[in-house]
Amino acid sequence: MRWGLEGRIALVTGASRGIGRAIALRLAEEGCDVAINYNMSPEAAGEVVLAVEALERRAIAVHADVSSPEQVEAMAAEATRALGEVDILVNNAGIHQHLKSWEMAPEDWQRVIDVNLTGSYLTSRLMGPRMADRGWGRIVNISSVVAMSGTDHEAHYAASKAGLHGLTKSLALELSPRGVTVNAVAPGWIRTDMTADATEEEMVEAMREVPLGRIGEPEEIASVVAYLASPDAAYVTGQVLHVNGGMGLY
Ligand SMILES: NC(=O)c1ccc[n+]([C@@H]2O[C@H](COP(=O)([O-])OP(=O)(O)OC[C@H]3O[C@@H](n4cnc5c(N)ncnc54)[C@H](OP(=O)(O)O)[C@@H]3O)[C@@H](O)[C@H]2O)c1
Repeated sequence: MRWGLEGRIALVTGASRGIGRAIALRLAEEGCDVAINYNMSPEAAGEVVLAVEALERRAIAVHADVSSPEQVEAMAAEATRALGEVDILVNNAGIHQHLKSWEMAPEDWQRVIDVNLTGSYLTSRLMGPRMADRGWGRIVNISSVVAMSGTDHEAHYAASKAGLHGLTKSLALELSPRGVTVNAVAPGWIRTDMTADATEEEMVEAMREVPLGRIGEPEEIASVVAYLASPDAAYVTGQVLHVNGGMGLY
């Protein structure tokens, strides 16, 4: 334990796998009770609950497709009933799809925007004001390096993540005066299911753009989220923290 988060209640979206799972476990290590949101992977979410409980913190798996206002409302109510009012919201759930802009159907575009961007709005609009009423809260949005760089094969994904930066800064302006900080973490290449389909050749090529010369681990995003959630980050709001091994420096 490092960051003084004992007794805080966290909700992490998309916590059944990958980066979200690592964030949930790290927040539990820091002393938080954690609501583990999942959509399609109930068993994996159940395993994360057990892992949190093994750290002697409380946990609950809460289902919601974050793009659904009704499901998000039910998830927030269930998490609050089980654990208490949410102090720390991590908007991590995300999907991507490898397509040129002219190959994707309008429905493909809409789905990625709905999950990656609208989902974060839906959770924040519910939980942000309740944190503000209590005078303390943290919202951390997980964006991506492509929000800044763009990408030649998933314009909807890049647009959703760039939108998340606008949402982050706007929420920070609205909520910071009432004690709630709002920040984003923009990962580069991280070892999860999302990057598992890259060929070895593609990975070697990708690593040429990473000064640290390797892919990142989910825990390396989780530690930055834990910092932003902590009292030590009380004067950090409306920022995007880039965690990408130095991509963009060359
Ligand atoms: N990996 C990278 O290199 C990388 C780089 C930059 C940014 N990111 C961002 O980091 C976040 C996590 O990515 P990851 O690599 O950990 O991905 P991942 O391994 O594919 O996991 C995605 C997670 O999001 C959840 N999810 C997907 N759609 C959802 C929905 N509609 N409602 C609720 N949950 C949903 C999944 O839950 P279920 O399985 O239960 O459906 C899963 O837990 C994403 O926002 C991603 O864009 C990742």
